[in-house]
Amino acid sequence: MNVLVTGGAGFIGSHIVDLLIENNYKVSIIDNLSHGKKENINPKAVFYEMDIRCEDIQEIFEKEKPEFVIHNAAQISVPNSIIDPINDASINIMGTINVLEASRKVNVKKIIYPASAAIFGEPSYLPIDEEHPLEMLSGYGVTKHTVEHYLKVYKSLYDINYISLRCSNVYGPRQDYSGEGGVVAIFCEKLLSNEKPCIYGDGYQIRDFVFVKDVAKAYLMAIESNVNGIFNVCTNSKVTVNELLSTINNILHKDITATYTHSREGDIKDSYMSYDKINEVIGWKPEKTLIEGLKETLNYYNNSLKI
Ligand SMILES: NC(=O)c1ccc[n+]([C@@H]2O[C@H](COP(=O)([O-])OP(=O)(O)OC[C@H]3O[C@@H](n4cnc5c(N)ncnc54)[C@H](O)[C@@H]3O)[C@@H](O)[C@H]2O)c1
Repeated sequence: MNVLVTGGAGFIGSHIVDLLIENNYKVSIIDNLSHGKKENINPKAVFYEMDIRCEDIQEIFEKEKPEFVIHNAAQISVPNSIIDPINDASINIMGTINVLEASRKVNVKKIIYPASAAIFGEPSYLPIDEEHPLEMLSGYGVTKHTVEHYLKVYKSLYDINYISLRCSNVYGPRQDYSGEGGVVAIFCEKLLSNEKPCIYGDGYQIRDFVFVKDVAKAYLMAIESNVNGIFNVCTNSKVTVNELLSTINNILHKDITATYTHSREGDIKDSYMSYDKINEVIGWKPEKTLIEGLKETLNYYNNSLKI
């Protein structure tokens, strides 16, 4: 079966592509390499270097005739969405509509899309479930949730099935540690380089870290399920940023302390999420413990930093 993955050269997208290919799917990728890397691209996938906002993506859809679309390409930075909301909306909303239009014209059966914990804002209760009220604190949160409305509309107008996966903090090999990288990637790179990481706030903010290969499995199960809807993809575990740092220190037998600075605009204090719904309906649950996932991630950075 044919799957087209936008953002398939990126961190999460490239793991999804690998898993799809392992499971004998035929995969094509559209990515403009603005944040993805050529070396992430599985050689068995057909790669198109193109912006999702370009009208020529229609030709790719017509050539590849995907039955399923995984729409991962996005502007992913919360701070950048505050600094430049027009660019954020241009990629995350207008780019998505271009993907949806191309999809309906070739009769795509189902679209899988990653929303984000950023749509919940400061939680009113924990763990966050799918019924939790939405209170976006950034343009990124708004654009990620807006797409969920479009998916519902395309289901009702054109009967394209959809699943939105609201992912918590995804971490693992290939995550960018420069600039707008995830906290796990940044801590791993800093500690492996014997440098002090910087923590925004007091470090007692709680996060829910989910391993990227578990997330990729959720996408695969979403494709193979016959349901529509919105599901959290997370671990329901509570780890403070300070605990994350000490866990990585322990694995590396190091004792590197952090420097602390003020928290950033749009940052949420505490967040962890429940995966009961996806477990019940689709049968997914996270498999890697944080320590196992961190060891695999550190191993990856250790090797790539040597190159
Ligand atoms: N990383 C997380 O913790 C997390 C959590 C929740 C949701 N998400 C969502 O998952 C998806 C993937 O995130 P990621 O962390 O792998 O980020 P990433 O930046 O590694 O992947 C995004 C990919 O999209 C590509 N891209 C960006 N703009 C594009 C455009 N205009 N046209 C074509 N390609 C474009 C980039 O080059 C990159 O390869 C995003 O939609 C993000 O919002 C990520």
